[in-house]
Amino acid sequence: MFKIKVKNSGFVKLASKKDSKRGNLFIATAEDNIPFKIRRAYFMTNLTRVKVRGDHAHKKTTQAIFPIKGSFVLNLDDGKKKQKITLKNPEVGVILGPKLWHSMSHFSKDCSILVLADDYYKESDYFREYQDFLKFVRK
Ligand code: TYD
Repeated sequence: MFKIKVKNSGFVKLASKKDSKRGNLFIATAEDNIPFKIRRAYFMTNLTRVKVRGDHAHKKTTQAIFPIKGSFVLNLDDGKKKQKITLKNPEVGVILGPKLWHSMSHFSKDCSILVLADDYYKESDYFREYQDFLKFVRK
């Protein structure tokens, strides 16, 4: 697999038990294949008509994002380097560490996205303005 070159990121892999008769089971275990304690999980569906989601960075929160159905493009930007990654394997996710501007786009019709987070939702943890984010990471 190719490397993620932006900071505060990397691939993560769920454990899996695939069975053509019983279906597939995917497992995320905190501090095992997920490199943090999970305090929150959320998922996104019905993205067919959506152009872009995300478009923000976090100050401290770390998350892991998975394409549990379908595919999408993850756009990453650490303030210096940018990278686009197509996620389409439900087992393979990407770490969204702190200070990593990210957006999701090009959702397939059937796309569902799972996100695991190491902290509760706090609006004060967000950079919503790209210029604020750039100022913060470049200082
Ligand atoms: P937001 O993070 O802006 O979604 P996205 O970046 O994917 O477009 O969240 C949308 C709204 O939902 C926003 O008002 C904040 C709220 N929200 C919560 O209340 N709790 C959560 O855990 C998340 C992720 C969002």
